[in-house]
Order: sequence, then C-alpha cells, then structure tokens
Amino acid sequence: MAPAQFDMSSTSLVESLGPVDADAAAEPYQATPALMLRHLDELLGVVRGFLSDAGIPVNVGVGDVYAYFEVKRRNPAYGQNWTTPGNLSFWLFQLVRALQPQVIVESGVLRGSSLFSLRCASPTPKIYAFDLDFSNLAFRTDTIDYREHDWGTDDVRAVSPTDFCYFNDHINNCLRIRQCYDRGFKHLVLDDSPNLGELQAYRYPAIPTVSMIAGDKLKDGDAVEWIWQGERLRYTFSTEHTFGAKALIDHCHPIPRIHPWTGLPDSHAYYVKLK
Ligand SMILES: C[S@@+](CC[C@H](N)C(=O)[O-])C[C@H]1O[C@@H](n2cnc3c(N)ncnc32)[C@H](O)[C@@H]1O
Repeated sequence: MAPAQFDMSSTSLVESLGPVDADAAAEPYQATPALMLRHLDELLGVVRGFLSDAGIPVNVGVGDVYAYFEVKRRNPAYGQNWTTPGNLSFWLFQLVRALQPQVIVESGVLRGSSLFSLRCASPTPKIYAFDLDFSNLAFRTDTIDYREHDWGTDDVRAVSPTDFCYFNDHINNCLRIRQCYDRGFKHLVLDDSPNLGELQAYRYPAIPTVSMIAGDKLKDGDAVEWIWQGERLRYTFSTEHTFGAKALIDHCHPIPRIHPWTGLPDSHAYYVKLK
C-alpha cells in the first residue's frame, strides 16, 4: 500500500471551503478579478481569431465578453431543458455585436434563452422569432416579432448585407441554407449540426447537416446508424435532401468550443457565409 504521506488527499494543494451556500449563484467557477481578466482576455483572443478567420469585422473587445456573462445571469430561460447551450449563446451575442445586422431571424425559440441573448446583444436590429409553439416562452417582449409558423412559409427578407439567421429548430440544415439564400441572408448559424460521431446525442439532428456536406464525403445511398436513448436510428443520404446547399456556401466554420474558458456547455453548430 502507498505510504499515506504520498496519497492525493495528503498532498493535494486544494483547500476545502466547506459546504455550498444554497443561495450562491451557480457559476461554474470564480476567480480573483485580475486572473479573470487575463483568462477572459485569452477567450477574447479565441473570439477575435474566429471572427478574423471567418471574414467578419473584428470589432469586439473584452467588454463584450464580460457583457455576455452579465446577460446570462439575467436570462430567465438560461440553462433550462433543451435550451441553447451557454457557449453558443455566447457566440450569438458576439456575432451580433461584430456583424451589427439590421434584421435577425431565430427559428426554434422554445423558452427563449438564445433569443434573450440575441436581443440583449443589441437593441437596434428588428428580430423575428419563429416557432410552431410559443406556449413555452419564459419571457415575452414587444421588441420582438413572434411568428408562430415555419419561417419557410414567411416572407421575411434580409435588408442589409450583415443580416443574420440562427436556426435551432432541428430542421434539415440544407433546407434552411436554401431558404436563407432565397431571402437574401448571408450570415447564418446552424445548430444541431453533428458529424457522424456526434449523432448519438440526437434524436432529431438537422440532417443532412453542414458538417456532413462541407467535405463532400456523403454519396447517395450512404447510411449511418446510431443509438439514442436505447432506440436504433438510421439516416440514408440522398443528394435531393441537400437542396443544392453546398453550391450556395461561400465558406463555413465550426463554432469553436470554448468550455475551457467559460465552463459552460458547447454545441454542434456552424457559422455559414453564403455567396
Ligand atoms: C432545442 S429547442 C430551441 C431552444 C431555444 N433556442 C432556446 O434557447 O430556448 C427547438 C425548438 O424548435 C421548435 N421547432 C420545431 N420545428 C420547428 C419549425 N419548423 N419551425 C420553428 N421552430 C420549430 C420546437 O417547437 C422547439 O421549441
């Protein structure tokens, strides 16, 4: 048996601070202010690197990073079941601040967690929120135009080159790309876009996803099977399912995972710039 003085409990440098205060805010961690600033400055470097790679104006600063966490604390829907993970809401917030759109579309609103982040990112854009059912909203505001139908049946169009759409409705990513292109939107974030190894997290992935078509690897008749919560599922690829989306994409990038900085959950999402 290892001598006790070498055991992790004897050698650990971690101090115990006792039981958790039931009223304490549920943040993943807290750090002293100077360390927090250096840490979030690193995160800002990730954000600015991504914006630069994606050809988006790099006009966000550390104040925008801090601002998101303040908005998250006020978000009445944050962290509830099936809502947009915190890290993707972070990216939506930064993208709106960087792009400065005049119109934003969100499809797949549920509780409104990501919608709250989009609204708080900027008071300026007109926001259209689409869902088939708004009975689950955690908040409502008259600064958002709520439309209870599929956005593909609507006539909302882009009015500026930086207008922005976010899809979290689990509907075919390729269909949404085609619809955005036809309505003049160039900047999209498509969620629920797993690659093959990530399908196991989904009953309703937005198939065929951007990650599947980006590399041209799927051929007609290719099939993939996975297990979700004990149920066997299969998807069989057909080029018809893509609505010609590949040809409409100028460039696309997976939304970077930022869990090491935020401690919040990541998602399987893509930023797509259309031609
Ligand atoms: C994962 S939840 C969205 C979570 C939301 N973004 C949030 O942060 O609270 C998916 C939502 O997509 C909606 N949905 C399903 N089909 C849809 C469609 N065709 N158009 C718009 N929304 C749809 C569902 O009603 C559900 O509310």
